[in-house]
Amino acid sequence: MKNIDIFEKSKLYMPGGVNSPVRAFTNTKVNPPIIRKGLGAYIWDEDDKEYIDFVASWGPMILGHNDFEVVNAIKAMVENAISFGAPTESELILSKHMVDTLDNVDMVRMVNSGTEATMSAVKLARGYTKKDKIIKFAGCYHGHFDGFLVEAGSGVLTERIPGSPGVPEGSIQNTLIAKYNDMESVKDLFERFGEEIAAIIVEPVAGNMGVIPGEKEFLQGLRDICTKCGALLIFDEVMSGFRVAYKGAQSIYKITPDLTTYAKIMGGGLPCGAYGGKKEIMEQLSPMGPVYQAGTMSGNPVVMAAGYATLKKLYDNPRYYKHMESTGCELENGMEGIAKEKGIPMVMNRCGAMMTAFFTDKTEVKNYEDAKTCDTRLYGKFFEHMLKNGVYIAPSQFEAMFIGVKHEKQEIEKFLEVMKNF
Ligand SMILES: Cc1ncc(COP(=O)(O)O)c(C=O)c1O
Repeated sequence: MKNIDIFEKSKLYMPGGVNSPVRAFTNTKVNPPIIRKGLGAYIWDEDDKEYIDFVASWGPMILGHNDFEVVNAIKAMVENAISFGAPTESELILSKHMVDTLDNVDMVRMVNSGTEATMSAVKLARGYTKKDKIIKFAGCYHGHFDGFLVEAGSGVLTERIPGSPGVPEGSIQNTLIAKYNDMESVKDLFERFGEEIAAIIVEPVAGNMGVIPGEKEFLQGLRDICTKCGALLIFDEVMSGFRVAYKGAQSIYKITPDLTTYAKIMGGGLPCGAYGGKKEIMEQLSPMGPVYQAGTMSGNPVVMAAGYATLKKLYDNPRYYKHMESTGCELENGMEGIAKEKGIPMVMNRCGAMMTAFFTDKTEVKNYEDAKTCDTRLYGKFFEHMLKNGVYIAPSQFEAMFIGVKHEKQEIEKFLEVMKNF
């Protein structure tokens, strides 16, 4: 079947024809291509059209599609093990690798998605501190857990949904919203609710209102206020972990969170998530402690094998990060140059292998308010032009563009060549 036939038929069986809203390309004038296969930096759709992929499954496919070692690790595991719901050595191997190679993870708990990781980390923080309120930042997205669906980024922002029907008032009454990169807004909340705040959860490099790196003083300010007031600092590195650097944004800023959440890259493209941190906090989890969190599929051996193959390859090859930094830089500079030439108002934000071109006439984009000034119609036109010409980028202004190990000079040049004709 062709793209259009599959998409139209899918709508009969799945709401909007998709299993995650952003895939439906709702606010664009095009239908989503139905992807059939991927290899390296490229994907092909059911109409046999080829694209250079800068979405990378929304981050996970940093090694490129169908990486030989990851595929082999999956194949080797499924020969003997698909799922037991019992402990396997594969969990030990990945957990040990994470604890050994990351700076602030003494213990880790595997789950099945980023949403599960963040909601579980918040529950653990609440259980540990015996307080209820959390602070999140406008424009940050931490998954579809009820308590996070207030001024959230990503698809929630793209679709201009203020909150979500189905989220009872009670589920968000303990969610306090502060302004990203604005320490005053955080201090203000601590002044009013200090005694009740269990945790701050933050994307240290935000990726879900487009890419907006946290400022060092801001993130340090969060660390200090948490320490002072007995709240936990949770870094949501679901997107930035193993991407902006192997050890994540925390290694760039040199800030120690109490808990960190991971997903995306750490599952090698299979459904996964994890949260980890200080031993004394992690030991509060059931069965050691009283905070209950469980999962039939958690630590699934196939996922563990894919995750380990991916993380080991990334860890063993620091040159990959140098490569992505230089390709990212080339793309950023090239895009900036073309935008200037063409008189397109644009602000480029990049942190390593994640970046966003904001179509705005502001001079900088530092928070949700700035991001919202973007000309989303112009971005939509840009997206359609790129897609039509074989460059697959996110269908929304409020998402990141991902550079991978397999993007070489040739792919960057093609991107820029297509952009020149916009
Ligand atoms: C920073 C961040 N946290 C959490 C999530 C939720 O992860 P998942 O989609 O795996 O549930 C995402 C998803 O994009 C994310 O970017």
